[in-house]
Amino acid sequence: MITSPSRFRLVVLGSAAGGGFPQWNCRCAVCSLAWANDPRVRRRTQASIAVSADGVHWALVNCAPEVLSQIQSVPALHPQAGLRHSPVAAVLLTNADIDHVAGLLSLREAQPFTLLATPSVQGVLRSSSAFDVLAEGVVARREVELGSSFDLVEGVSATIFPVPGKIALYLEARETAEKGALATDVEGEQTIGVELRAGGRRVLYIPGCAAMTDALRARLDGADLVLFDGTLWQDDEMVRAGVGTKTGARMGHMSMSGENGSIEALRQVNVGRKIYVHINNTNPVLVDGSKERIAANKAGWEIAQDGMEIAL
Ligand code: MLT
Ligand code: MN
Ligand code: ZN
Repeated sequence: MITSPSRFRLVVLGSAAGGGFPQWNCRCAVCSLAWANDPRVRRRTQASIAVSADGVHWALVNCAPEVLSQIQSVPALHPQAGLRHSPVAAVLLTNADIDHVAGLLSLREAQPFTLLATPSVQGVLRSSSAFDVLAEGVVARREVELGSSFDLVEGVSATIFPVPGKIALYLEARETAEKGALATDVEGEQTIGVELRAGGRRVLYIPGCAAMTDALRARLDGADLVLFDGTLWQDDEMVRAGVGTKTGARMGHMSMSGENGSIEALRQVNVGRKIYVHINNTNPVLVDGSKERIAANKAGWEIAQDGMEIAL
């Protein structure tokens, strides 16, 4: 077999937050531009990345509802040999949100891969029998503990760590009924960040994060690349847009702008490249030339788009 030199390769399969962009039922100012095919915006599928060290074996971090079209648009992820094959050898989940797990239902068809998640997220999948299409004996479900490091796919190692966040939206009602309240910024197995290493490079993928902590800042320091929660520009953006009553804090997402925002939180942190992912359809940074896009770019942030390829 021809092996290519080991280096860190990453493809942004999807760059939008839950709902995608434009969202199927949304006519907010930003979605309206997309529905009108305004050239200042591009459509985006829900958040996921693919990573590889050799360009042959790939792992997905999260599995969006659009995984089929995402795979179809990335030649490296097409079946390469024989009658049945996939370069996707592993899928690692950062939480149990619909935008991160629903695509697993499309990865049936008796194709072996390893599905890695914290014990709590594996428990959520087990409790929903639809995921049994990923049959035992075909898909290996592996529980990975917070703080542990493991080989994710040939040449790529991963370390998972908790970040402030909450459980998936669809688990909230039960949790609130049981506990009387919902925690939206706790550190535990429900929301994790992933540190990936390959070819001597260090990359962090954190598509959901409710708040910056000193420990997280220290972990990000010196990374070659950070892909970070870009859900909202400002905390009350969805309320202002008239599309909902929830703030970013309520949804477990810190916003980009403001004194508690991620731009400020990471301004002094030494990171090779900073890219926002998991961008909500209401976020004005999606619009080329918007003042918010310009401000984010000026602060050193790129805005991910689907299909973006990075080799380090
Ligand atoms: C989130 O990131 O907060 C969730 O994806 C929201 C949702 O499931 O709609
Ligand atoms: Mn999400
Ligand atoms: Zn919208």
